[in-house]
Amino acid sequence: MSAEFGKAYWEERYRGHTALHRSGPNPQLVAEVGDLRPGTALDAGCGEGANAIWLASHGWRVTAVDIASTALRHAREYAETFGDDVVSRIDWAEADLTAWTPAEEHFDLVCAHYVHPAASRQIVFRRLAAAVAPGGTLLIVDHHPSHEPALSHATVPAVHITPAELAAGLDSDRWDIAVAEARTRPATDSDGCENTLHDAVLRARKRP
Ligand SMILES: C[S@@+](CC[C@H](N)C(=O)[O-])C[C@H]1O[C@@H](n2cnc3c(N)ncnc32)[C@H](O)[C@@H]1O
Repeated sequence: MSAEFGKAYWEERYRGHTALHRSGPNPQLVAEVGDLRPGTALDAGCGEGANAIWLASHGWRVTAVDIASTALRHAREYAETFGDDVVSRIDWAEADLTAWTPAEEHFDLVCAHYVHPAASRQIVFRRLAAAVAPGGTLLIVDHHPSHEPALSHATVPAVHITPAELAAGLDSDRWDIAVAEARTRPATDSDGCENTLHDAVLRARKRP
């Protein structure tokens, strides 16, 4: 993965756009997690917080981690508009997922949406999988290879991944794969243009 997607890249990106991801929670998160009983959640690479806020609004106790302090500042401000209950359910943390290791087998849900760490994505995903408690859920949503190269920052093949590649990182003795799919969804980009996004979605349950 290129160093292009390191901390400096993301800080600059969030400085340029004050509300980059405020269009609401990711539809894949809503579809995959909406029926789960709330517990503890880790949102890895939380950006400006839309997914963490949605989880907190639905009763989850969330640890939301991002490398970009600018994103976290926007996220905190955004969360405040949802009231004290939501604010009290989220711990925001600035950390580099390539260096920070979450507590093992701790979270009922670990999710990551479009996180392309500058160092090895496989190592980061392995740590995220290890952080899921027995019986808990891992949800990874990322850019599928058929994602239009002209859209957003997803211009280099290194950010793309297939559902099969995501699933291959999980030990089949420990995980049940519930969803490993390519999906499309409509989205409005930061310039206000309507587009079709191609997602790779993995939802898996760690065996109790
Ligand atoms: C495309 S944005 C997605 C944000 C959010 N998950 C969403 O879907 O709205 C990718 C996020 O991952 C964060 N990120 C990238 N590399 C990271 C790393 N090594 N450690 C922590 N966060 C990272 C970026 O700062 C950015 O907020």
